[in-house]
Amino acid sequence: MPDGGPGVSVYLHYPYCKSKCTYCSFTKFLVPADGIQHSRLEDALLTDLEASLSLHVDDLVPAGSDDHSAAQDAIVPPGEPLRRRIHSVYFGGGTPSLARPEMVARVLQRVQDLGMTPSQLEVTLEANPTSVEASKLRAFKAAGINRLSLGVQSLDPDALRFLGRDHSAKEALEAIETALDVFDNVSLDFIWGRPGQTVAAWERELQQVTALGASHLSLYQLTVERGTPLFKQVQKHPQLMPGEDEIADLFEATRHVASLGGYEQYEVSSFYGVESSTFKMFSNGASLDSLLAPKSDELRELERCGLLTVEMDAEGIITAVLLAIAGKDFVLTASDDTSARSIVVMKRGEDKSVELTKHSLMLYSGESGDTVQFAEYIQRNVRLYGIRHSIELSPNAVASFTRREMAESLRSRNPYHVNVLIAGVSPKTGVPELYWIDYISNMCKLNFAAHGYASYFCLSTMDRYWRDDLTVEEAKALMRKCLEELRTRFVGNLPNFFVKVVDANGIHTTEL
Ligand SMILES: C[S@@+](CC[C@H](N)C(=O)[O-])C[C@H]1O[C@@H](n2cnc3c(N)ncnc32)[C@H](O)[C@@H]1O
Ligand code: SF4
Repeated sequence: MPDGGPGVSVYLHYPYCKSKCTYCSFTKFLVPADGIQHSRLEDALLTDLEASLSLHVDDLVPAGSDDHSAAQDAIVPPGEPLRRRIHSVYFGGGTPSLARPEMVARVLQRVQDLGMTPSQLEVTLEANPTSVEASKLRAFKAAGINRLSLGVQSLDPDALRFLGRDHSAKEALEAIETALDVFDNVSLDFIWGRPGQTVAAWERELQQVTALGASHLSLYQLTVERGTPLFKQVQKHPQLMPGEDEIADLFEATRHVASLGGYEQYEVSSFYGVESSTFKMFSNGASLDSLLAPKSDELRELERCGLLTVEMDAEGIITAVLLAIAGKDFVLTASDDTSARSIVVMKRGEDKSVELTKHSLMLYSGESGDTVQFAEYIQRNVRLYGIRHSIELSPNAVASFTRREMAESLRSRNPYHVNVLIAGVSPKTGVPELYWIDYISNMCKLNFAAHGYASYFCLSTMDRYWRDDLTVEEAKALMRKCLEELRTRFVGNLPNFFVKVVDANGIHTTEL
């Protein structure tokens, strides 16, 4: 039951599976020969739920309140009963679709009794795509499930056999069809990076997947987990698994085909369907174009972003100057070197940027403690991912991860007050990429960008002179124009800037 900020997310683990897959290290037991003792298991899960919830004293709110987001520190009259805020429920496994739908209804009833839930409580069930389980989906929906996560893993019969799955590709496709018929919100799990898998075969398989129209895809790289049959097999035959280069190619293919199929990546393995009704609800009716800043309307989007930034009254977040311009095959960045508290200059010489990968640079501004902590946190995690998987994340993946972490922080009690630019070039294609992210986790991919008051002074200049074939020297000339504008019109005195170029060779400091 992880604490995701104000309120808890309830996770119930259903520990039985009909068979054990060769790669899986999750806690699971084979269904006993005499069947699952449903009532005993359900009683145990409910006891566990109550005990776990009772530990979450931090998330208590007055029972009388009808507002799920009621202030946590509201004064509670003595004797008033308290309930916990619960923002989602997830039945994971093992194979929770082996459970009785009555179990779901019992658990959700107890959640309502003990907790305070939003009107649209998200309730997810993981399911295996066998025909027996597909036949129960309507009953699960009636019991309160509104999101289904189907573990398909592959549509290739040989791969399903290798992975030890107990369903055929045909059965999986039928289960997906039923799931899409029953639920508005369906997520599909697939595993890539399988032995012998070619890029062309995976592209074909994934094209078939994206055409199905699920609202979400989880596309996991096959991980060789210690203690699994796959682990033993790979120990005996280390050449079985694809090498680093093949994995990098498969990952790029995953992102490319998912994107062409209408899916936007927001985490390393997670993609949402941008046309899905669930995403439209999530984005509050805003079109994808307005979220991702279409080139044709870039300045309007930038102005919208700039206004959002200035609305925040936080130390250093509006006076700091972060600028970036994407050119032909590079991104040029500039950040002022002034460390200020309110209107007082504390020191000069502060570099407000950090290298995330060889080809991705993050510029940051905001509350002084937050900026360094956030930048280090992102840097460490991106590096760790690189070391674990022996690949360099693309600027797009780095930006998606940063945005997600910002969104997570926003839901916590101590959100980071940090604005960010991520400048980079794709390590594979050398194409420059620039992302604007603000402290409330709006993200836009742009050709030029600014944070803080600087946006008022520099964006129109950038808009007027920017071209997609700018050379480094031309981009520097444009950056000089922007800084002249700032020095002439901005009341703050910002004498020095750190200027950097990110290109295919890495990140270099330069002079304007
Ligand atoms: C806990 S499993 C349970 C889902 C369900 N029992 C099933 O098998 O469809 C959740 C997902 O984790 C992914 N997964 C589990 N082990 C994995 C591994 N070793 N490598 C990559 N993905 C894995 C699979 O895609 C799976 O669908
Ligand atoms: S992947 Fe799913 S079905 Fe297979 S063993 Fe793991 S939990 Fe069970």
